[in-house]
Amino acid sequence: MSMMTRIEQALSQPFMVADSATAPPRLMAAMRHAVFPGGARIRPQLCIAVAKACGEDAPDLTNAAAASIELLHCASLVHDDMPCFDDADTRRGQTTVHKQFGEPLALLTGDALIVLAYQTLARAGARHPHRLARLLMTVCEGTGTPDGIVAGQAWECEPRVQLGRYQRAKTGALFVASTCAGAQAAGTDPEPWRRLGDALGEAYQVADDIRDVMGADQLGKPVGQDAQHGRPSTAADLGLLGAVDYFRKLIQSAVQSVPACASREAMQQLVLHESERLLPQSACDQIAVQHAASQRRAVA
Ligand code: IPE
Ligand code: IPE
Ligand code: MG
Ligand code: MG
Repeated sequence: MSMMTRIEQALSQPFMVADSATAPPRLMAAMRHAVFPGGARIRPQLCIAVAKACGEDAPDLTNAAAASIELLHCASLVHDDMPCFDDADTRRGQTTVHKQFGEPLALLTGDALIVLAYQTLARAGARHPHRLARLLMTVCEGTGTPDGIVAGQAWECEPRVQLGRYQRAKTGALFVASTCAGAQAAGTDPEPWRRLGDALGEAYQVADDIRDVMGADQLGKPVGQDAQHGRPSTAADLGLLGAVDYFRKLIQSAVQSVPACASREAMQQLVLHESERLLPQSACDQIAVQHAASQRRAVA
């Protein structure tokens, strides 16, 4: 079975449990809308790839961990798009949940997906009780306080923000949870995998900041959001060229951090493939050309 089929199946399973004749139909429709069709599904891909690299022996637990992390990611996007945050009309090429179902249901959709994520992990974890507590802690660290998604989003409400801390919390932390949970679902030590999640997660947000400025985003969500909402952004802090440079360093660090294992090369290829998908070489070249032209204009 392909990685993507495995992920979609793992994500469908929680809905079979949650969806019943007693459930409010519009809430269930909104929850599905938030999860299907997906985006890159990079977090569950990472989780499963690391579990395999660690000698996966409990695929049901890996699947539950991967699905719970993606459900939490989807929940964070539903809330992030709401008018009290980024007020976005589109996500993954379709109407955002609050635009289609209204704000009350969007709030509840995010809440319900968060609960469904932990339910999913708890259900599979009941068969692997000795791994469950650590997995839960890992997922909580990626999502809550002091350094998870919630904390990251909350930095937007503070008068002063340290860019790196904000980026690592709102995006990096769930990537760390993805790699670490993969190792833990396989019953192994997560620490060797922490750096990969940390570096790739930060790189992801740096690329997102760059694309937000560059515009013409093909990813089905609005661009120019960071400037419009006054969000801290790597592109604003370092300039586009500086941000590209920083992105490349993070990707290099992610590649080098992959621990010795049978699938080291495949994992490194996954990182490089993501790097090119996030920020194609042609986009980097375009940024370099624009920068050189603006330098020439400044001298003239
Ligand atoms: C979007 O994440 C939000 C950020 C953290 C930049 P993704 O780029 O992983 O979104 P999807 O899941 O592919 O839509
Ligand atoms: C990441 O931040 C979103 C979350 C952590 C939920 P952004 O606001 O930059 O992400 P996009 O651009 O909306 O996907
Ligand atoms: Mg945001
Ligand atoms: Mg946003």
